[in-house]
Amino acid sequence: MRIPLIAGNWKMNKTVTDAIELVNEIKDVANNTDVEVVVCTPFISLVGVSEILKDSNVKLGAQNMHWEESGAYTGEISPTMLKDIGVDYVIIGHSERRQYFNETDETVNKKIKSAFIHGLNPIVCVGETLEQRESGIQREIVKNQILKGIDGVEEKYLKNIVIAYEPIWAIGTGKTASSEDANEMIGYIRNIIKEKYGEEISEEIRIQYGGSVKPNNVTEIMNQVEIDGALVGGASLKADDFRKLVDF
Ligand code: PGA
Repeated sequence: MRIPLIAGNWKMNKTVTDAIELVNEIKDVANNTDVEVVVCTPFISLVGVSEILKDSNVKLGAQNMHWEESGAYTGEISPTMLKDIGVDYVIIGHSERRQYFNETDETVNKKIKSAFIHGLNPIVCVGETLEQRESGIQREIVKNQILKGIDGVEEKYLKNIVIAYEPIWAIGTGKTASSEDANEMIGYIRNIIKEKYGEEISEEIRIQYGGSVKPNNVTEIMNQVEIDGALVGGASLKADDFRKLVDF
């Protein structure tokens, strides 16, 4: 049985003061539920939020990391630093990082390997652009991103990977993939894993959908058999909305 995972990706939103306020409002959302809940805050808020989440079932995630443990990488944050303050999850290869910050399948691959070695669970984002979908090559694109991203990752770690299928045209646009399309793509992703690593691993891996998930569409999305959770941007920034998402 795969445990559903609802993860909030706050992106570059909320000051530390705002982050503390929001997390105080939502820290109880994972009580009395079988759903796993994660909030991925900006780096600067992780320490403060971590303190608040100490007695909560809500887990803490970062939105990115460097693959090295330490060194001369000005402006970067390492997996060791994240682990030290109680971070459990880290988003890797979000399309905004691929688009604006030169994230490539190669850097994604290094980060995934490093995350596992340091005891962090990666939430790895994949997804096609609108142009790619319109040309009918979305499967090829996503397959490539996945196989390059996880190339050489030790199989013992793989069951803990979370994949987030986020069609780029659906992120922050209010357009969602139809729940059937999302289910179909996620089933396809599971099949890629099955072909390469076998059925056991493919059945254990959680694959989320992301892209304009809101309180009014979360139930339909979560009712799809292949979809194990949601990675949510905009709707994770308001306590009431986030609560509704967890209660899908
Ligand atoms: P959105 O963002 O929910 O605002 O579309 C999702 C994401 O980018 O992870």
